[in-house]
Amino acid sequence: MKMLIKNIKGLVGAREEAPSILKGADMKDLPIIEDAWLAVEDGVIADFGKMEDWPGISDWRDLEVMEADGKFILPGFVDSHTHIVYAANREGEFVDRIKGLTYAEIAEKGGGILNSARILAEASEDDLFEAAFARAEGFIHMGTTALEVKSGYGLSIEAELKMLRVIRRLEEALPIPVRSTFLGMHAIPMEYKGNPEAYIDLVINEMLPAVAEEKLADYVDAFLEDGYFSAKQTVRLIEAADKYGLDAKIHVNQFTATGGVRACAEAGALTLDHLEELTDDDVQAMLQYDTIPVALPSCSFFLSIPYTPARQIIDAGLPIVLASDYNPGSTPNGNMSLVIAMACIKMNMLPEEAINAATLNAAAALQLSEVTGSITPGMRADFIMTKPMSSINYLPYSFGEQLVDGVFVEGVRQ
Ligand code: NIG
Ligand code: FE
Repeated sequence: MKMLIKNIKGLVGAREEAPSILKGADMKDLPIIEDAWLAVEDGVIADFGKMEDWPGISDWRDLEVMEADGKFILPGFVDSHTHIVYAANREGEFVDRIKGLTYAEIAEKGGGILNSARILAEASEDDLFEAAFARAEGFIHMGTTALEVKSGYGLSIEAELKMLRVIRRLEEALPIPVRSTFLGMHAIPMEYKGNPEAYIDLVINEMLPAVAEEKLADYVDAFLEDGYFSAKQTVRLIEAADKYGLDAKIHVNQFTATGGVRACAEAGALTLDHLEELTDDDVQAMLQYDTIPVALPSCSFFLSIPYTPARQIIDAGLPIVLASDYNPGSTPNGNMSLVIAMACIKMNMLPEEAINAATLNAAAALQLSEVTGSITPGMRADFIMTKPMSSINYLPYSFGEQLVDGVFVEGVRQ
């Protein structure tokens, strides 16, 4: 199969060779070819250039030609942090927060993650799969062409394995790359409240080996936060996972900054996600250990908590990644165009930085840099065609407008 797209107003993120990640001042390097053409062959990017240099068509066999007048093409979004497998929404808690309760107060009453775990324990694997598949399909139509999905609403060996099997089925059924993360340390189940160490032993000594045995996860994760898991407990998980060859992506500094960033960076975590609270030492630690920070602005918006200080992070010379954090409690949003808009509006990121953070850098957060995240010859032809727009800045400017007109996965329109 061959495809040629002509008269593209702007071909965004077109690079002959893609860097593995963009850091600091380089984060605003977003090449845009104006008035461009793009050729796709057998699901991968074959070539591109300016219309004035277009060589024309010598072989019409199996060729589909498309006109993109006034439209932009950009790499598909990579959403490196989601919790799309769950059994029920939590609108009740949403209304409780409007009435004044905090996320922590709701959790203390047995709501929050434990609420989701109670309901998930009763749900069948098939029902969980159907619901998560529908959510993922919705994301694809909004431009997401690679996805990470976490467990963490199981909190027992059976239910965690059930969630991870659902994620593996998603990987098989969806046309996009799916990465799976074991988040057994998401909350301490009620029955372990008096003895959290016993739960951590269960996660590390029983759940983790079972997950590794069935090859159900690519990463491990934990919720490092007051009232959830400590830095020391999280480091124990990171070190245990390393023995199975699993890297770590950790929820840290969502509500409090207590040294967890340095501990996890030193232990070799691949990414540290949330970081709404951030100290200078946290920044230094991520620089020292080459850790990738991941910001989740739609979570900040939904919970009315601070936004991750992206300028501080980028200006220090670090990379940054943007992801949705889609989940039923803190972020029921999987629209990455909106995430990019929030990053520009609330975190002072330039549109170029935000697009790189949601594409090329996000691919690095899933170790998919050689595969997707850039319009580069030889890489998957995963891209978005916009509606006609005046410039790429219009995408975050016109926040909330659905500007994604077509989504192509390995060159196939979805
Ligand atoms: O990333 N903070 C921890 N985990 C999720 C929220 C989970 C939930 O409330 O269901 C997050 O915000
Ligand atoms: Fe999360």
